[in-house]
Amino acid sequence: MILVTGGTGLAGSHLLLELIKQGESVRALKRNDNSIEKVKKTFSLYVTNTDELIDKIEWVDGDILDLFSLEDALKDVEQIYHCAGKVSFDKRDSSSLLRVNQNGTANLVNAALVSGIRKICHVSSVSALGKTQQGETITENHFWKTSRQNSIYAISKYAAEREIWRGSEEGLEVVVINPSIIIGPGDWTSGSTRLFSTIWNGVPAYTNGIGGYVDVRDVAKCMVQLMNSDISGQRYIISAENRSFENIIKTIAKALNKKPPTLRLYPWMGEVGWMAEHVLRFFGRTPTLTKEIARSAFHQYYYDNSKIKKTLNFDFISIDKAINDTAKIFLDDLLINRKSVKKKQQKVRKSE
Ligand SMILES: NC(=O)c1ccc[n+]([C@@H]2O[C@H](COP(=O)([O-])OP(=O)(O)OC[C@H]3O[C@@H](n4cnc5c(N)ncnc54)[C@H](OP(=O)(O)O)[C@@H]3O)[C@@H](O)[C@H]2O)c1
Repeated sequence: MILVTGGTGLAGSHLLLELIKQGESVRALKRNDNSIEKVKKTFSLYVTNTDELIDKIEWVDGDILDLFSLEDALKDVEQIYHCAGKVSFDKRDSSSLLRVNQNGTANLVNAALVSGIRKICHVSSVSALGKTQQGETITENHFWKTSRQNSIYAISKYAAEREIWRGSEEGLEVVVINPSIIIGPGDWTSGSTRLFSTIWNGVPAYTNGIGGYVDVRDVAKCMVQLMNSDISGQRYIISAENRSFENIIKTIAKALNKKPPTLRLYPWMGEVGWMAEHVLRFFGRTPTLTKEIARSAFHQYYYDNSKIKKTLNFDFISIDKAINDTAKIFLDDLLINRKSVKKKQQKVRKSE
């Protein structure tokens, strides 16, 4: 039996589909019933027998912050895929980021040790590899350095990874993946999928920052292949391509038939931007731009994906394809939502 945490999220729902298609016995942790609808939605994008496949998953109620619920969920389990986590760059989420990502992972490791689990695949992040010099290429051997420029999200993911390596020291087989920004269809209002709704709503400008991007289907495939190998005690950067923000924003805008931004921002503008946001906070406005986001928008990160490519002989889906496939689903969703709003409005008019 396999336990998946975070199965209702972007990475986790694609992983569940991959595992179920391969005929594995899967148990998935959920915090509420509504989230299963999100998984159904993901499955329906790729298969026609959605309900049949969803019914094959054994759903259990639980929370990674509740050690007892984890111990229950781990009965008869041999392998764990740990996809649950919180993604946020807002400083006000500092304590919940550390609680969910660090304490939640510590709980899972402790429960796994007690339950005699054989192997864990942990979804970390390239953020957990730490900051680099501008333009430096990052490999799995890059070591974390404490710096005031580390975002609270990065600190929480680094702390989570340390819990996993503690588990490894204490006898668990572990394999860690460090994905870059994951592209794929999901809840358009949160996490990396929000890229599409943000660009749909209009992004006026771009920066010269560079980062890594990967298709969610590749993330799921790499996890399963690593779990089913003899590999243990290793981590892998999962990133298909390094692209500039300018390129990503313009490619997504084009795929959504939106006008691409023409204004280029420079680092000094970012600094001014986050300071203005902090001033506005006093007047009750939610800050959308933190100092860390402003800085990283101009940083150039290059991720080396040669380790995973060589280990699994893996070919990544191109980022152009990842963007075009996701944009198509986004536009289909928009059409469906508009139709259902129109229907509701017609119903209201008829009843008046
Ligand atoms: N998206 C990216 O670009 C990216 C890149 C690199 C690494 N990652 C990492 O990949 C992992 C998954 O990210 P994602 O993009 O799939 O995020 P997501 O779509 O926001 O999904 C997060 C998942 O974690 C679950 N979760 C959150 N708090 C939990 C708790 N206390 N107990 C149990 N489950 C909890 C959520 O469950 P509910 O449905 O109940 O909310 C959801 O299933 C995270 O660890 C993230 O740090 C993401």
